[in-house]
Amino acid sequence: MPDQIPVAQPAVDDAMVEAATAALRSGRHVKGPRAEAFEAAFAEFCGTEHAVAVSSGTAALLLALRSAGVGAGDTVLVPGHTFFATVSPVLSLDAEPQFVDVDPETYTMDPDALAIAAADCDPDAILPVHLYGQPAAMDTIHTVADAHDAVVVEDACQAHGATYRGERAGSLGDVGCFSFYPTKNMTVGGDGGMLVTDDGDIAECARHLRNHGRDASGEHVALGLNYRLDEMGAAVGREQLAHLPAWNARRREVAAHYRERLGDVEAVSLPTERADAEHVYHLYVAQVDDRPAFRDALDDHGVDTGVHYPTPAHRHEAVREHLDATPDLPATERLVERIVSLPMHPGLGDAEVERVCAAVREHYGVAR
Ligand SMILES: Cc1ncc(COP(=O)(O)O)c(C=O)c1O
Repeated sequence: MPDQIPVAQPAVDDAMVEAATAALRSGRHVKGPRAEAFEAAFAEFCGTEHAVAVSSGTAALLLALRSAGVGAGDTVLVPGHTFFATVSPVLSLDAEPQFVDVDPETYTMDPDALAIAAADCDPDAILPVHLYGQPAAMDTIHTVADAHDAVVVEDACQAHGATYRGERAGSLGDVGCFSFYPTKNMTVGGDGGMLVTDDGDIAECARHLRNHGRDASGEHVALGLNYRLDEMGAAVGREQLAHLPAWNARRREVAAHYRERLGDVEAVSLPTERADAEHVYHLYVAQVDDRPAFRDALDDHGVDTGVHYPTPAHRHEAVREHLDATPDLPATERLVERIVSLPMHPGLGDAEVERVCAAVREHYGVAR
């Protein structure tokens, strides 16, 4: 039996191990030059003035919202279909999430639903998610944000290097947030995150908040906690960033391979790409009607699959208890029953992708 093909897998090479070891041996484990160098490189990559390295994507979202002025009682529009951590920072700030249904083709905020929700609640912030690596419909998001004088905080935690009309994810709103969780398109060899912005005040506020609310003089000017990224993570992150364009290109090749070999299998709806964006396929999420049987069949062929995410954010107990009523999100509710993630990472070889495709074709009885 050939090896099981995992859904996602982080890449580690000797240069990353050496960079981590050098950081360890340097004796400077936090607040050092490696975090600063990683920030500078990441800001340049995103095309923003500033980057602030933090301890996770969740921390990036929390500090981005707070630094952009979102606080208790403010209304934040969030998509219904996303990972829990898009919403938990909003609730942690005692702000109110208002859920917007998603477009089942792109898996991102539905522009019509967004306009209706905004007219209803006059939002203080919009939090689009570039889910699975595809940028949200930023033109509508900006139109709506301008009309309501709302800040735009991007959850780009799954979209390192994705572009929308030629501009990088993270640089498309007032502030953008990234996660370096190990399965993401790039990692730091553990947990980590980054927020990027052109706004010097947001960057400065986030720098204070990640370090106990301390300013350059050493005064604690705000109630911050410790959300710093350590030097080992920053050293690994800088090495990973250098590989990101090539890794993303390989992800896109794998996606093209799936489309070529599965495009004619009617029982599977493959993910679509916006014409004005470049998708970086953090995850390759298809839709099927017979998900349990589909997953079992692929497992029998040594192919792992996943479900990202089986429960919409608004249905988790920790979120539910903050909501007055269950939001009406028919597209989200239907999607979560049908989505399935096929293996997607840059280490996949053509033969492995072909094995996945053959297993899908066999399951649906479509000749090779
Ligand atoms: C869409 C989304 N938002 C937020 C997060 C939170 O990032 P982290 O796990 O680094 O805290 C993640 C990643 O897990 C994510 O995928």
